[in-house]
Amino acid sequence: MEALKVSLGERSYPIYIESGAMVNSSFFVPHIQGKKVVVVTNTTLKPLFEDKISQALDGYDVDIFCIEDGEAYKTLASYEKIMSHLLEHNYGRDVTLVALGGGVIGDITGFVAATYQRGVDFIQVPTTLLSQVDSSVGGKTAVNHPLGKNMIGAFYQPKAVVIDIDTMNSLPAKEFAAGMSEVIKYGILGDKPFFEYIEQNQQAIKTKQPDVMTYIIQRCCQNKADIVAQDEKEAGLRALLNLGHTFGHAIEAEMGYGVWLHGEAVAAGMVQAAELAATRAWLTAEEVEQIKALIASFDLPIAGPEQMSCADYIKHMKKDKKVQADTIRFVLPKTLGRAILVKDVTESELQQIL
Ligand code: NAD
Ligand code: GLY
Repeated sequence: MEALKVSLGERSYPIYIESGAMVNSSFFVPHIQGKKVVVVTNTTLKPLFEDKISQALDGYDVDIFCIEDGEAYKTLASYEKIMSHLLEHNYGRDVTLVALGGGVIGDITGFVAATYQRGVDFIQVPTTLLSQVDSSVGGKTAVNHPLGKNMIGAFYQPKAVVIDIDTMNSLPAKEFAAGMSEVIKYGILGDKPFFEYIEQNQQAIKTKQPDVMTYIIQRCCQNKADIVAQDEKEAGLRALLNLGHTFGHAIEAEMGYGVWLHGEAVAAGMVQAAELAATRAWLTAEEVEQIKALIASFDLPIAGPEQMSCADYIKHMKKDKKVQADTIRFVLPKTLGRAILVKDVTESELQQIL
């Protein structure tokens, strides 16, 4: 298959998607300038993928560095550990970092790459469905701060994204479902034919049929690449990728990060956005049901936590990165397959649906 491309002038890069991509050295070699490669991964993934990545990087001086597994480790402390390792081993600006893992590893490694000696090259090798269809593409890098998620970071693009669909085989079911939430998101926000494709191919997706998985990952990456090429720094269009996230982030924050997976919170958030859109007669009741049915079919939640009040949501929404001049901005489906950014949602509208 031909690689997809994120078109950003001199910073353009390919996205390779196929079974066995992680062992294909031709996807790595053109994007590594020096001889030294540091693979950043976690303690769970190292035993699963060490041999494969080492095979692809044969001939390079490869050093595999692990941080602990989990969102709780997407911190400045882990960032500092990686930085210290690079400095202690005297890596220069010709080092290439490889982010081998899900969104946590991708985001933190990308932020290290953006800032180590003012910037070194990095390659994304995403291993969760969520990171394959979303976080590895587009150059958002970050760590969390106790006062907010992803609050410290940079826009910094990788040199390549290498997606091996075989990684799905070891992915826990809950993580696969969380990834499907972001897959469905692309359909609702801008690609109705894709939404329908997912509806029609549910069984093949659930059994991870390789050609279907390759196709859905390609389609999501193409959608994301098109958006990022037009609006890299989220001046407008890119914000649409946050469909369901204003509600979802509030759920994650209220419940405590990690209690609800990001994709699960986004799933409930997309239903809430759809319900809000329906109160404005932008979606029909049938379309809201269609969205709920598809989300539920992947064992994802279609409502927020029972104990969360409207005030709980609003408290967290006011801290959202999309808040501008004290206005909470929502991404809502104007129709099924086309979302828009909305700045005039009232508290009473929120009360109706929450
Ligand atoms: P994650 O990175 O925590 O991975 C989830 C779990 O799956 C981890 O325990 C991981 O070790 C394990 N895992 C990963 N791949 C595996 C595999 N192939 N087999 C077995 N286990 C595997 O979570 P995630 O959902 O990939 O990413 C979530 C993070 O991504 C959040 O921090 C979120 O903020 C970030 N994110 C960033 C962007 C962006 O644009 N940069 C977009 C969306 C989300
Ligand atoms: N995940 C949203 C974005 O990349 O903009």
